[in-house]
Amino acid sequence: METAVSSSSQCGYSYEEYKETADWLLAHTEKRPKVAIICGSGLGGLAELLEDKNVFQYEDIPRFPTSTVPGHAGRLVFGRLQGCECVCMQGRFHFYEGYNMHMVTYPVRVFFLLGVETLIVTNAAGGLNGTYSVGDIMLIKDHINMLGFAGQNPLCGHNDKRFGVRFPCMSDAYDRDLRALTKQTAKEQGCDNFLQEGIYCMLAGPTYETIAECRVLQTLGADAVGMSTVPEVVVARHCGIRVLGLSLITNKVVTDYESNERANHEEVLKTTERRTQDLQRLVSHLINKL
Ligand code: HPA
Repeated sequence: METAVSSSSQCGYSYEEYKETADWLLAHTEKRPKVAIICGSGLGGLAELLEDKNVFQYEDIPRFPTSTVPGHAGRLVFGRLQGCECVCMQGRFHFYEGYNMHMVTYPVRVFFLLGVETLIVTNAAGGLNGTYSVGDIMLIKDHINMLGFAGQNPLCGHNDKRFGVRFPCMSDAYDRDLRALTKQTAKEQGCDNFLQEGIYCMLAGPTYETIAECRVLQTLGADAVGMSTVPEVVVARHCGIRVLGLSLITNKVVTDYESNERANHEEVLKTTERRTQDLQRLVSHLINKL
């Protein structure tokens, strides 16, 4: 009988498996990025800004999962952004696609083994905070790991000390200095009028939230809700990578039974398209200061 520890969804990948992917990448590119960027739905345009690119399709990278969502390209792009060596994930892996938590976070440990020190994550999110507008960019100050509450934490299973400690701290998950730098950069770039700072709550998806669920999340103190980011951040913090998280508020959640508004993917993509340039400008000017 298979024990909990030997079940692959519980224990995930071995150090050697992550290392095999990292070593393959190191052998196929001369780039040595210190910054990794995970691009959310429709926000992959950032990768196009990189100079002197080396591009790898996910399916060509040993052991890398592949992406299934429209609007997610599925490429790992190495290159320079504002003179800074970066690696950019164009398309991420979502729990709702059927990947387990170890697959969702696989690239983050590979980044760690590549020598990455800073992770920038972007996502699309629904605005729960009534003062937010569609098109606002929310600097993530903290998160609520709703899947973690339900026993789906990517660090469940065997802990390999080469990545980090058994019980990592999460009270400093979103780097304070990076947030301060982002606020300063937003001011300089004239985007501070739509910059917010708040708490991101991750649900599994793929359903959007019911009205009752949105009200619960508001009561819990969440400002934005989405279906990604938290697992990657947990794994990044476990291995000591500092994190900056940015949510684009693509829609306002529905909290009123009289409302005829309906959350939908088209609205999410439309808002993303409208704000993508601003987000790219903010991130690239920020990277220039790292
Ligand atoms: N809910 C969950 N995820 C989302 C939303 C939303 O309203 N908008 C964009 N991603």
